[in-house]
Parts: sequence; structure tokens; C-alpha cells
Amino acid sequence: MKLSLRFVLPLMLVLAGIAYATAPLVDGLTLRWFVKDIDMRSALIANTIQEPLQELLAADRKTRAVEFFNRITRDERLYAIGYCASPAGTALASRFLPDEIHCHDLEGWRGSGEHLMQIAKGPLHVAVKPMESEAAPAGRLVLVHDMSFIVRRSEETKRYVFYFFMGLAAVVSLITVIIAQLSWRGWMSGMRALLRGEGLLRQPGAGAQPKLPEFKPIARDLQRLIRELESDARTRDEAQINWTPESLRAILHGELRGEDVIVVSNREPYIHQRRGDRIEVQQPASGLVTAMEPIMRACSGTWIAHGSGSADRETVDKNDRIAVPPDNPAYQIRRVWLTAEEEAGYYYGFANEGLWPLCHIAHVRPTFRSSDWAQYVAVNRKFAQAVVSESKTKDPIVLVQDYHFALLPKMIREELPDATIIAFWHIPWPNPESFAICPWRDEVLAGMLGSSILGFHTQFHCNNFVDTVDRFIEARVDRESFTVSHGGKLTAVRRYPISIAWPPEAGLVQKPVPDCRRDIRQMNDLPPEHKLGVGIDRLDYTKGIMERFRAIERLLELHPEWIGRFTFVQVAAPTRSGIEEYQHHEAQVRAMVARINDRFERGGPPPIVLKVEHHEPREVYEYFRAADLCFVSSLHDGMNLVAKEFVAARDDDRGVLILSQFTGASRELPESLIVNPYDADQCAAALNMALIMPADEQRDRMRLMRDLVAEFNVFRWAGRMLLDAAAMRRRSRLADKTGRGEA
Ligand code: G6P
Repeated sequence: MKLSLRFVLPLMLVLAGIAYATAPLVDGLTLRWFVKDIDMRSALIANTIQEPLQELLAADRKTRAVEFFNRITRDERLYAIGYCASPAGTALASRFLPDEIHCHDLEGWRGSGEHLMQIAKGPLHVAVKPMESEAAPAGRLVLVHDMSFIVRRSEETKRYVFYFFMGLAAVVSLITVIIAQLSWRGWMSGMRALLRGEGLLRQPGAGAQPKLPEFKPIARDLQRLIRELESDARTRDEAQINWTPESLRAILHGELRGEDVIVVSNREPYIHQRRGDRIEVQQPASGLVTAMEPIMRACSGTWIAHGSGSADRETVDKNDRIAVPPDNPAYQIRRVWLTAEEEAGYYYGFANEGLWPLCHIAHVRPTFRSSDWAQYVAVNRKFAQAVVSESKTKDPIVLVQDYHFALLPKMIREELPDATIIAFWHIPWPNPESFAICPWRDEVLAGMLGSSILGFHTQFHCNNFVDTVDRFIEARVDRESFTVSHGGKLTAVRRYPISIAWPPEAGLVQKPVPDCRRDIRQMNDLPPEHKLGVGIDRLDYTKGIMERFRAIERLLELHPEWIGRFTFVQVAAPTRSGIEEYQHHEAQVRAMVARINDRFERGGPPPIVLKVEHHEPREVYEYFRAADLCFVSSLHDGMNLVAKEFVAARDDDRGVLILSQFTGASRELPESLIVNPYDADQCAAALNMALIMPADEQRDRMRLMRDLVAEFNVFRWAGRMLLDAAAMRRRSRLADKTGRGEA
């Protein structure tokens, strides 16, 4: 509006000036035309009256001649007529012949002539016409026309010219403002504004309502079409991007204008542990950390997590921050300290004895205690405060990770209403009946619905979540757009299958495969050509480690030719050992290994080697590269990144992946040997098949899987969420501007 005034007012002034400047020209021109007309009229009248006048004069009937003149001058414009027989006499004249006209003056007017004169009544046109005839007396006729009508017309003309220029100014301004609006807003947004009735139709202060409500349905359809085109374009764009840390950074800086990114998770990516007088840095075994770490390296920002290491406090600055990775710092960890009581209730209790078994349905009963719940609420609140204090703007992008923080999205939303909160649930979401046993299910659901976007690995888990919301809390669920509206806020529920960094870090695949094969076999006292299978997991009952061992036992029963020729190394990172169920599970696993080894060892290499200890990523990759097969037998798993890491490690296109059908990964890696971990015979058959699979079949399968992981790497996973967040922020800024919510 300001712009329109700035442009329209000067334009109007300029055009008004032009109108005034051109008025005298127009005046002069019209005057000339009228004078010409009156001249012709005078000549015509003179010719017409000449003969009757001469007759009257010849008969010396002067009075009749004057009457004749008076009759003629009844004409509206002919003001007076006079006749001068000679310069010396007085004029024979009609009424009103101006006193200024004298016969002796007429001699000065050579031949016929015309003259303009001004008297009190107004301007007059005086024409002198000689009367020439041989038979009759000559003399001169004076014809006086009233010119006031010309002045009147000239005024009118001036007025029209002025109006014309003002109208022109208005039209030019309008066209210019429309063109400027369209080009400034960009074509798409200009179109949208016009469709909404803004721009042309919206008046200042008229608010957001289009003035023509009958256009609303058409505008809505067109808006939907534009949104579909946009999302189509985004899908195309997404597929065309080569997803790397650089492209992710470019999205952050381009689409999100380098905004604040804060990640919150319970587990930190680098743990400092005291070993005597040394401090050791450990990278924990966690799918979440595996996925988020490369993202944070690319995006910088701040990662808020529980400081759980024995030397964590010694290594932070006065703001509880530390720059990581230690050898090449790229982002900050902000550590949050928990008391033993908080950790027991929030982490071991509600998160890992309640929600973890509840969501995995792995036949371990969830335990819910109100004291754990109280700590869970308190710790979520503590992290919400940390988010607020780490946020540099009022609308940061906060990536909330996993089931430890179900309440955090709502708590952050209360403090930072403009934040874009993307919560990602890394574990499965059960069906509504299973979830219903949680005594605080409504609070958990409401907490999660504080997110702008809520992500799961699979559509199946998205469906389960939306069904649960629909069943238990008051919310509007839209199954077409997959959104939930709760407490006036909209949450988009989306599937984002997580992945790993591709290509894998150079250091992880540096050692040649033959060297890995040799070294790992030597390290485990195995002969050089011994067949080797690997399992890499946390020692968790959801991973199906016992089912895996049962399958190995069954293989050796069904195919005794493998006894002494095949060994399975299970790397099991100790985890959550404060929980009884985990201690019990570890004991069961150890006992089972002892029993199976006892049964099949027969003096040669054992069928199973169990390594209950932490391994750094480099050591894990060495095992992957040394193995003939990798067995992932989770009883229920959101994604399982071990499967993808095995594929990433095998740049020699060899090795076979056996994968549980109950992992999210099995939907993306159908070239693996997919098994039901509860079916020991089927798993044994898969193990045998893997051990005898020809090299070219291994290569064909591995290449297809590698192509998929390369294409859908973790940068794309994060990029998709950030692109969706960027689109959401654009939409909500537009809605704020127009005072309208989502259509
Ligand atoms: C799963 C969870 C993560 C967790 C990881 C390790 O992958 O989804 O949130 O970090 O297990 O568990 P821990 O309790 O050791 O962090």
C-alpha cells in the first residue's frame, strides 16, 4: 500500500501538470476552428442579405432596412449588423451594434477582414464584408457575432482534458502496481494472492477476508493444486539431489536460512570415561547416535543430551558444553546432569522398563510405577529448560529424539510457541490395544502432539499411532493428509525411514577386506578359511539373540557338515545393566552359548564366540568386512541400522545378510534373506543358504542393497524432514501474515 501511494501520487501530480500545460494549446486550437467557422458564416450571411438590402437601399427605405437587420439578428449568435455606405457617414445598424464600431474605421480594414473585440458583455467577432455591385451603391457590411459560447465550450474542453489525464494516471498506476506486485511476490505467490482476493481486491485494513466470497471454493481448489504441484516438485527435487553433508548444509542455509538447529536425545554421541588417570572417549552403541551424528557434523548446532560418562563433568566448559568430534570439532554437546534418582525413574524406569517393552511387544511385561512417571515428567521439564536456554531465537528447529522425551514437544511448545519441533520415534509404535495399558497414555499422546512433525520409520507405525490417538484422546484425525489436530495445533505424522551416512567414513572401510578376514580370524583363533558369521547388537532382549543362537544350533543339527567349519561371533554391547530384565537376559544368553558350544565344540573352533563388551565403530566394521554372513534377528525393531551398516561395509560386494521380517529395514532390503526369527528351522535354512551362496549371487544381492542405502542415506532422511519443516514454516508465516490458519 505504501508503495502504491509512493508511486501513484507523484504520477498524478505530473499528469495534472501536463493537463494544465496543454490546456492553452487546446484552447488556441479550438478558438482558431471556431473563428474560421464564424468567418464562413459571416460571408454566407453577407451574401444572402446583400440583394434584399441593396433593393431596400435603392428604394431609400432605410427604416425597413433597419427592421430587416433587427429581424436577422434574432439569431442566437449573430449579435448585430451594420451597413456603412461610405467612411464619412454613420452606420445603418441593428440594435446592439457596439459604439466602438465607426464607419471611418472600416476603411482601415482592407477588403474583407475580421476582428475580435471585447465588450462588457463578452468577446465579439467582427467581420467586414464589402458589397460590390455595378447597379447598386457599394458600401460595407459589418457582421458582429457573439463569441461567449466559445469561451463556455473552451472551459468545458479544458475540464474534459483534465479529467482525461487524471483517468489516465489512475489506469497507468493501477497497471504498474499490479505488475510490480506480481513480479515482487514471484509468480506463484502473486497468483496465490490474486486468487485469495488480495492484491487487487483487498482493501487496506480489510483484514484477511476475500471481498468476493463466491470465489472461495475456486481459490481453495487452485490452492490445493498449487500445493500438490509444490509437493510433486519437492519429490522430484528430493530425488535429484545428491544427498551429502554439503547438500544438507545447503538446505539448512537456503531453505531454512541457517536457522538454529537443536537436537535433544538421552544418549550423547561422545561419552568421556575415566580409566585410572586417563580419560577415554567412547562412541555408544545406539542406532540413534549412528544416524544423528553425521547430521550434526553437517549442520553444526547444539546437541543436548544426558551427560552419563564418568569424566563428562571434567571435560565440559562453564556452560556444560563441549565441542565435538574431539579430533575435528563441528558442533556442540550441551550436557544435562541427572541425579541417580532421576536416572533411575526416568531412564531405567519409565523409559526402559515401561515404554521400551510396551512398544516392542517382545514378550517382556512393561512395568509402570508412578514414582518413575514423576521422574520422567521432571526430567522432560529439565530438558525443556535446556532447550529454551540453548535457543538463540524464538523459533528454533528442535529435533526431539525418541521415547525418552514423549512429553518434551508439548513442554517446548509452551515455552517457544513458534518453534518447529520435529519429534522422531526411533522404536516401533504398537497397536492401540497394546498401547492402552500405559496408565499415562493420554499424557504421553498429548505430549507428542506438541510436535510440528512426528516421524516414524514405517507407515505401519504411523498408522498405529494415528489409530491410538483416534481411539483415546479428543483430537481431529485427517487420514488423507495424515495430520492430527489437537488443542488448536496441527501435527503431521510422517514416515521417514532412517539410514546411515553414505559413503561411510573413509576410516571405517580403509582396511582391505582380505586383511580384515585374516586379522579377525587370527584374533578369534580361527583357521584362515573358516566360515564366519557375525551379529552386532546391544545385549537387549528385543534383538532376538537367543533366537539367533537357537537357529545356529538347529543348523548344526540339520547340517552337521558345518560343525567345526563355521563360527558365529556375537558382539554384544552391554546395555541398561541396571535393569533386572537385562541382567537376566545376559545370564540366559551366556548360559545358552555355553550349552551350544559344549554340545558342538568337539575340540575344534566353537560354534559361537560371545563378546560382551563395547566395540568402537572401526572394530565393528572390521568384523563386518571379515564375515561371510551377518545375522540380524530382532523380534521387533523400528529400523535396525546394523543391517544397513553391514551393507555399507561390503564394498567388495560379498557377504550375505540374513534379516528378521520384524525390522523396518526388511522393507527396504528385500535382497537379504528375510526370516521369521521365531522359526528356527527357517533361520537354519537361511544360514545354510548363506554359507553356500555362490559369489555372483552374493554380488547381485549386495549391489542392489548398496544402491538402495546409497540412494536413501541419512542425509536424505534428515533433508526430507528439514524440507518438510521449511515448507511448514513458510506456510505458517504466510498464515500469520494473512491472519488465516491452514486451509
Ligand atoms: C535404541 C534407542 C536409542 C538408544 C539406543 C541405545 O536404539 O532407540 O534411543 O540410544 O537404543 O540404548 P541406550 O539406552 O544405551 O541409550
